[in-house]
Amino acid sequence: MKIVAGRASQVLASRVAAALGCELLPCEFRVFPDGELYTRVASTETLNDESVAIIQSITSDTDFVCLLQLIEACEGLDASKISVIIPYLGYARQDKRFKSGEPISVRALARCIFADEAFVINPHSEKALRYFENARSVKVLDAAMLLGEHLRVQAKDVELIVAPDDGAAALAATAADHAGVEYDVLEKTRLSAEEVEIKPKALDVAARSVALVDDIVSTGGTIVRATTLLKELGASEIYVACVHAVLVPGAALRMFNAGVKEIIATDTLETIFSKVSVAKLIAKELA
Ligand code: R5P
Repeated sequence: MKIVAGRASQVLASRVAAALGCELLPCEFRVFPDGELYTRVASTETLNDESVAIIQSITSDTDFVCLLQLIEACEGLDASKISVIIPYLGYARQDKRFKSGEPISVRALARCIFADEAFVINPHSEKALRYFENARSVKVLDAAMLLGEHLRVQAKDVELIVAPDDGAAALAATAADHAGVEYDVLEKTRLSAEEVEIKPKALDVAARSVALVDDIVSTGGTIVRATTLLKELGASEIYVACVHAVLVPGAALRMFNAGVKEIIATDTLETIFSKVSVAKLIAKELA
């Protein structure tokens, strides 16, 4: 098997290739003067009926185009089997029509992906999987245990994992299991038309070191709200651990200003907070 590194997943793809002892095929990416992307799997004339794994996160429209181009290029090079690994699947938050006339954006993207198999790491909604109509198989890979293990080894003072909402509860539960600590979920209760109370469902956070665990951190708004609340309830330290650090400009600063001690993320998106690699998770599936 050969590994193709999409332009959004260069480091992760190199790690997967190293973990598998496979050749990493260099690619060429350029932007034409009109903004279109030029992509080329540059290192070979043919894949000679070898299988190939393309690793490319979708963080932007161009990343999506790049993934489609790489799939087509590998078809053109006569790959015998094409595996597509999407570490971060953008557009997965628009997984239904919230208002009539809206697209199911993740469906629009997913059904363009023709592959023998597809793997997605912690998609925002597992509903997304049903839209990979043109992949022979599709599977979710869960990075929660890696976050939990990292917290156990590198953030030994963490005593409690908290999910900022129900959507992150399963992730927090698995991470807590692997970190060897308890977990809780922040619950919103409407007291009146004007008043909402948010607090942990069951556990006391006072004087405890807490890790907030979520799938995506984008603007940081969810984490800032949760951090402010946990600080008011007396939490001593707040760590943030997420799978996908989308981090729009200013997000990290907002979280640190709110009192976050450390941000820990995986390398599904390559940022300075990528302290946990999902390479082995991917390599295990491809081996
Ligand atoms: C929401 O359902 C997700 O799990 C995240 O909590 C959300 O996407 C985080 O976004 P932001 O950082 O912009 O609050």
